[in-house]
Amino acid sequence: MVTINKLEIENVKRIKAVKIEPSPAGLTVIGGNNNQGKTSVLDSIAWALGGNKYKPSQAAREGSMVPPTLRVTMSNGLIVERKGKNSALKVIDPAGNKAGQQLLDSFVEELAINLPKFMESTPKEKSQTLLKIIGVGDKLAELERQEQEYYSQRHAIGVIADQKEKFAKEIPYYPDAPKEMVSISELIQQQQEIFAINGENARKRQNVDRIRQEYDQSILEVDRLRKLLAEAEAKTNQLSEDLKVANMDAVDLHDQSTAEIEENIANIEQINLKVRTNLDKDKAEEDAKQQREQYNALSAKVEEMRQAQRDLLANADLPLEGLTVSDGNLLYQGQEWDNMSGSQQLMVATAIVRKLKPDCGFVLIDKLEQMDTITLEQFGKWLEQEGLQAIATRVSTGDECSILIEDGYSIINEAHQATQKPSFQAGTF
Ligand SMILES: Nc1ncnc2c1ncn2[C@@H]1O[C@H](COP(=O)(O)OP(=O)(O)O)[C@@H](O)[C@H]1O
Ligand SMILES: [Mg+2]
Repeated sequence: MVTINKLEIENVKRIKAVKIEPSPAGLTVIGGNNNQGKTSVLDSIAWALGGNKYKPSQAAREGSMVPPTLRVTMSNGLIVERKGKNSALKVIDPAGNKAGQQLLDSFVEELAINLPKFMESTPKEKSQTLLKIIGVGDKLAELERQEQEYYSQRHAIGVIADQKEKFAKEIPYYPDAPKEMVSISELIQQQQEIFAINGENARKRQNVDRIRQEYDQSILEVDRLRKLLAEAEAKTNQLSEDLKVANMDAVDLHDQSTAEIEENIANIEQINLKVRTNLDKDKAEEDAKQQREQYNALSAKVEEMRQAQRDLLANADLPLEGLTVSDGNLLYQGQEWDNMSGSQQLMVATAIVRKLKPDCGFVLIDKLEQMDTITLEQFGKWLEQEGLQAIATRVSTGDECSILIEDGYSIINEAHQATQKPSFQAGTF
């Protein structure tokens, strides 16, 4: 991990001559009043390490007879210089070999020298940066995509479910109608059977009448034909027997009524209309029920995807306690970026940027006056704990500033030195 051991800057922007040895870890605060050259120090570091795109528009100090000079000594032994008329870059490694911007780019994180670029990015970009460093960006995007897909599927199903339920509700129901359609052919067959039985009965009745007539005639014949009495008597006896049998046959005959069937035939259209309606309603209700079940199943899927996203983040190695992502938004202690205090934003940005390029052990922070001294101290402790070097500016001349910039010159802040343990001293020259 690379940090900055020493800065020597002359005639860049507002700077006349600045030499700083920042603390290897923790916070180095560059203090001073407005317009003294504090930000010019950070601009110079960005130019030295970040390449020509960070060259200030007016790099040379106005009124200076000599061109700007920059010299940054890194903890890995690299010396980075810009000097001469063209401010040409010169990178020399400890073995004396020359290198260039490409080597610097390999360990200098762009956002570390340009924190505002992160701070000013959109909420979506911020959360994507975080997800990228914790290595769950792709998975989370896939889960979000799936959630979205289930969500829109569920919406479509839900609309149909509502329609079907409404449709089913509008169909009337006839509790008195039979469960199944009445068949006319069955009723006609029943009617035919009854007709057949009744026809047989009629034939039997005719038989009785016929025999009775013959019997009556026979009696007349007995009177009229006395001489034929003997034969007639035999016949009469015989007929008398027949009559008894026939009578017995006819005595228990009952005719069945077809009135009910006739009525059913008359009503069949009406009944079947009700049956059909009831079947329609049953079907519509079943349809609506199935649709609602699908909707509920998709609800479970949507929640499953959301839970998977929460699990993914819960198990991820986040750069700062209390930092997370929800619905594509960066959250710190439950607050979105625009709801965080200025100092919280700086801490979040530093923590995230710190993880982007693990070899880059420093970060530049302008305008640290947003932090009160207690927050500043906590921030410094956190940086030390992370082994991270932060070089920050602050409109202040208090003892929290290790260096003061006055009229383009760096001055050691004795008041700060007094507050430090000897091993953590940062110095100026
Ligand atoms: N090339 C330059 N030469 C001289 N002064 C400059 C140059 N560029 C900017 N300045 C002046 O420097 C001042 C700002 O310096 P800066 O480093 O931002 O101060 P600070 O951060 O301490 O407030 C402004 O007054 C600006 O006009
Ligand atoms: Mg400034």
